[in-house]
Amino acid sequence: VDLLPYNTFKIRATARYFTSVSNVDDVKSIFDSELFQKHKHLIIGGGSNLLLTGDFNGLVIKNDIKGINVVQENEDTIMLKVGAGENWHKFVMYCVDRNYGGVENLSLIPGTIGAAPMQNIGAYGVEIKEVIHTVEAIEISTGDVRVFSNAECQFGYRESIFKHELKNKYFISSITLSLTKKNHRFNTTYGAITDVLKQNHNNEVSVKNISDAVVFIRKTKLPDPEVIGNAGSFFKNPSVEHSVFDRIKVDFPSVPSFPGENGLVKVPAGWLIEQCGWKGKTIENIGVHKHQALVLVNYGGGDGSKIWDLAMKIQSSVKEKFNITLHPEVNVI
Ligand code: EPU
Repeated sequence: VDLLPYNTFKIRATARYFTSVSNVDDVKSIFDSELFQKHKHLIIGGGSNLLLTGDFNGLVIKNDIKGINVVQENEDTIMLKVGAGENWHKFVMYCVDRNYGGVENLSLIPGTIGAAPMQNIGAYGVEIKEVIHTVEAIEISTGDVRVFSNAECQFGYRESIFKHELKNKYFISSITLSLTKKNHRFNTTYGAITDVLKQNHNNEVSVKNISDAVVFIRKTKLPDPEVIGNAGSFFKNPSVEHSVFDRIKVDFPSVPSFPGENGLVKVPAGWLIEQCGWKGKTIENIGVHKHQALVLVNYGGGDGSKIWDLAMKIQSSVKEKFNITLHPEVNVI
């Protein structure tokens, strides 16, 4: 099966076997099947955080579990249970249309609901962990359904338990989110949002206006995967000790930074990569995006292993110039 339609990097690769699942029973029967037990597997959602470096000699399972259901509602808040196979941005638009607050800053992020808690998607000052109530997942070895509380998911910056202790052990089937119907807690800490609200929306803060502002900002900086293959940020933003940061600041007084976890300083990987001269570089049909150096792009027909080689070259030049190691944010297969 051709995987081109199933990865936003638009890499030409094939899967030996492919199936899609649309409910929990489908998932359980796949796990029970001989095909599953005999071969390695790869679970995918929207394929938007994936770099395929070759053909996959196993079973690809596409999560197609759909549905948005109200679990609980009062005057102020609403809780929605959403199937893991729902498209993330379509869900955000569902919320924006109904004036449900909490996910507007996360507008236009490619991918599915199920992939969102995996890496605790975040943008413009908000992470999905702030609105996740529970995550429902199926244990691969037993077929048992387990509901994880927010705390049990152990969310961190682009991290969750599903990428660590429970890596490859659970299949996320749905998530339940808690959203506001009024008294929204807007987050406009990201400077560009305030600028766009001023320019385009007369400073009026609302669920819809923040969403529109985020869509506007993303469209100016980030390539549309429908047009240019990409998987968003390729690396995570590294956190460094204050002493390391102070040393960089001597040579580069304008180095941007943000407070990181555990008292560390977060330095934008895009800035580090740009300083190494990679921004806008094109090598045959792949390259580094011209407006955002953290995004690697496939202009068409690009080879996943070549993109990986490029990523490794970028990683070593950042290491050489700044003595900082960048870690991939995308899932490399
Ligand atoms: N910068 C540069 N050169 C570049 C890119 C960025 O100097 O080529 C500098 C900018 O000037 C700015 C800083 O880096 O001072 C931060 O840039 P930006 O606001 O574009 O965000 P980011 O840190 O590069 C992160 C997320 C994005 C998310 C944005 C907005 C990660 C790995 N990435 O990028 O998420 O949309 O913040 O909140 O944390 C993704 O995960 O796929 C993704 C796109």
